[in-house]
Amino acid sequence: MQENAWKKKVDLNKIHEHLGKEVIIAGWLYNKRSSGKIKFLLVRDGFEIIQCVVVKNEASEEALKVVEELNQEASLMVSGIVNEDKRSPLGYEILVKDIKIVGQSVDYPISPKEHGIDFLMEKRHLWFRSKKQNAIIKIRHEIVKAIRDFFNENDFTLFDPPIFTPAACEGTSTLFETDYFGDKVYLTQSGQLYAEAGAMAFGKVYTFGPTFRAEKSKTRRHLTEFWMIEPEMAWADLDDDMDLAEQFISFIVKRVLENRRPELKILERDISILEKVVPPFPRISYTEGIEILKEAGKDFKWGNDFGVEDETIISNKFDRPVMVHRYPSAIKAFYMKRDPEDDKLALAVDVLAPEGYGEIIGGSQREDDYDVMVERIKKHDLPLEAFDWYLDLRKYGSVPHAGFGLGLERTVAWITGTKHVRETIPFPRTIYRVHP
Ligand code: 4AD
Ligand code: MG
Repeated sequence: MQENAWKKKVDLNKIHEHLGKEVIIAGWLYNKRSSGKIKFLLVRDGFEIIQCVVVKNEASEEALKVVEELNQEASLMVSGIVNEDKRSPLGYEILVKDIKIVGQSVDYPISPKEHGIDFLMEKRHLWFRSKKQNAIIKIRHEIVKAIRDFFNENDFTLFDPPIFTPAACEGTSTLFETDYFGDKVYLTQSGQLYAEAGAMAFGKVYTFGPTFRAEKSKTRRHLTEFWMIEPEMAWADLDDDMDLAEQFISFIVKRVLENRRPELKILERDISILEKVVPPFPRISYTEGIEILKEAGKDFKWGNDFGVEDETIISNKFDRPVMVHRYPSAIKAFYMKRDPEDDKLALAVDVLAPEGYGEIIGGSQREDDYDVMVERIKKHDLPLEAFDWYLDLRKYGSVPHAGFGLGLERTVAWITGTKHVRETIPFPRTIYRVHP
């Protein structure tokens, strides 16, 4: 086979178009085994994995020799005939004619045996060649695509907020500070404040970008760098916000079910749970949430925030995501509008995923009154001058508006059934890890 034979390669996701024909494929050796004189190679090309069968009289002398030398993750080109193989997940196999090693692989560190998580994270740059990690990232891709399609189909304009920001959005305790030509700025915690400006100009906008929090939390839900999607709508209240959230989440789950069955299968995800994710989602108030905790025998004081265990107890009562609204304003952000019926409450909503995956969405109706907002900023000890532009939005044609933020990694974790968010992003950043 020629050096550049890969130029004519067939990608394995298109292999069905070549049934009965001779093709060249190019990829990496996933695994190899023998049965008597027959050798079976599993070759992955990033799209799929295919079984290549090497038998004497069919394969070249060279191929028979090379098979013995091939190590796990060596890169190679294979030529051969595409046959049907009903037993394999792909449905096809290749009867090998010739093989050429392109790049040998010596002592590949991730063998099919079990490895510890620290080791795997240290080898993250290789780890996502493995089947399950590969499936998670493909589903992440599908979710991102669904998110963009959802907003495009619903007339939201993409509105990219800055990453360097002069002010805190989500509390001052989790800010990453950086020097900006002698000034102090922060990596953004949320694009929301900017999205509010966008909503006043475009009606409906969404942001999609990385956000940063210096979270000291060592939970399986926290990253220091994560991706957030934040729709913001002018002329919308908390009910409209919840309507959007349930439509949005259902749309995403439906897409994954339609397009990513093979990956869900690799991950052994219970599909029946995902199939229940259709509107309407249950809506309960924070205070009703406490009732559920009390029924479960928990002693919970009104005014405290729900912990991981509390969220799990509440979400376990329902077979689909539950929307918890009207939290005590004291534990919520400065920009949230108070409930006109009860000043102690914020018009906030958290969406809790089923099966203990916790909060995937946080949102609210925003305070739209200038004077109230000035008071709030002062009360939260935030610098008024950094919020001058934000206050302008209440000065020039203020309207009721609402929005939310969906955490991408937590959503991927829930849909794929992955316990820890560190496996849902190519290179996770946590308090322990910025390498590789
Ligand atoms: O609830 P949060 O803090 O809300 C906001 O940032 C609002 N400004 C959003 C808005 O109304 N536009 O964060 C929103 C979501 C959470 O529900 C969670 O899914 C995710 O972002 N999130 C994290 N994900 C991973 N690691 C972290 N440290 C996260 N912090 C929040
Ligand atoms: Mg939140």
